[in-house]
Amino acid sequence: MPDSPTGPPHSSFDLADDDFRRLGHEVIELMLEALAAESADPVLRQASGAEIRALLDEPLPEEGTSADEVVALWRDAVLPYCRRNGHPRFFGYVCTSADPLGMLADAMASAVNQPVTAWRSAPSATEVERLAVRWLDQLVGFGGPADPGILVSGGSAANFHCLACAVTRAESRAGLPPGSRARLTLYMSREAHVSMRKAGQVLGLPPDQVRLLGVDERRRLRMDELADAVARDRELGLFPAAVCVSAGTANTGAIDPLTEVARFCEDQGVWLHIDGAYGAPAVLTESYSWMAEAFSQADSMSLDPHKWLFAPADAGCALVRDEEAARKAFTVASEYTTVTQTDPIERYAFFDYGLEMSRRFRGLKVWTILKARGVGRIRAAIQHDIDLRRRLDERIDAEPRLESLGSELSIACFRYLPEGVGQIDQLNRANRTILETLVREGHLYMSPTELDGRYALRACIVNFRTRPADIDFLVEEVLRLGSTHL
Ligand SMILES: Cc1ncc(COP(=O)(O)O)c(C=O)c1O
Repeated sequence: MPDSPTGPPHSSFDLADDDFRRLGHEVIELMLEALAAESADPVLRQASGAEIRALLDEPLPEEGTSADEVVALWRDAVLPYCRRNGHPRFFGYVCTSADPLGMLADAMASAVNQPVTAWRSAPSATEVERLAVRWLDQLVGFGGPADPGILVSGGSAANFHCLACAVTRAESRAGLPPGSRARLTLYMSREAHVSMRKAGQVLGLPPDQVRLLGVDERRRLRMDELADAVARDRELGLFPAAVCVSAGTANTGAIDPLTEVARFCEDQGVWLHIDGAYGAPAVLTESYSWMAEAFSQADSMSLDPHKWLFAPADAGCALVRDEEAARKAFTVASEYTTVTQTDPIERYAFFDYGLEMSRRFRGLKVWTILKARGVGRIRAAIQHDIDLRRRLDERIDAEPRLESLGSELSIACFRYLPEGVGQIDQLNRANRTILETLVREGHLYMSPTELDGRYALRACIVNFRTRPADIDFLVEEVLRLGSTHL
């Protein structure tokens, strides 16, 4: 018997309105605490795997626990051991401070629980996502078709998506039967993100036909190596499926020679894919506006709202110019994916243009951020991060004990030079000690990289909370540890 509209909750899962409201307020307070603590608490509280497991591990419960107790466990056992990626002194990997509006949008997306498969199942959510993707296209100047792409989980998924389209088109251009990838090749620098190599592997290309090419002194793809590799492969009877370049590598922020590669790809009739997961939004700023020319010529691009557009994870975007290639790569006919609507807006189905069927309503947070913040405020936040990186460069250059190992976009790599130490393995050990001590002490967080055998401290600033004083603090901390702990 269905419950009456005025009767008790429909099932044992539903919360009474008052409980929902009370718990909701409690959770909002916890969210505020988590945000406030980003300035005060350690960036990453140290605890062993065994310690954290001991706080949580127990047999699968037959009887449930009260929601209050579960939320208390969030507070006591989970939240304290979350790395605070939005902390103003978080400089690791490519992790951003999340826009609070994006957090609320994410919660709302869960409340309406729209698996965004197609318009017929999620009418407004589909329109929100289509609009958000069109705006992302305009933001970077890709200039794709009316529906230029799709939101996915992140940069790796976007790179996979784009290369699946490239490989599908290459097969048909090479006159190969679908799925025969043994003669296809991909090209990228050895600094390119690992997800593109992985895409080649998953898409069935022989591993040694994903050509990892050399880089110049600024870690950008070498054009001569690219031209030689493509010519050699053509002589061998192989078929170049795509050239993959980076608009900012994860490692050092290096930007490949995008314009030259775009010209080369056009001459050669080869698919150009740009991995802009991290760096593409920098095109909004004056110093990096030159990237727009290549973006407007690319066949596909990835960019991540959950990186330099400050969306909470997860939110990536794949843009593809050739809609037919996307359809061919991802459409599989079946009874339940047959679309019967005829209206051009209402017949849209994401499952014909992407891998996933059920997809989270990611469009809500991306659209909310673009709509509420506007391009102007986003540009200013990105410029702020680039300016902070420049400040860090200046501080490094002014300190005789620090050596810059290169910087671009909002990433700076450098190392400490202890007095009297010149041997590479000693230098590497000293810098590893500095970094590990910094992370353990918890006042800031950096991740390392290795550049031609040199262990480097790497600071990546994709954070609207970081202030000039945080950059100064970073420099002082490295100098303090360098002079006292080595
Ligand atoms: C340039 C670049 N490409 C791809 C990725 C992968 O993105 P995700 O971690 O969202 O899969 C990253 C991650 O930092 C990146 O910086």
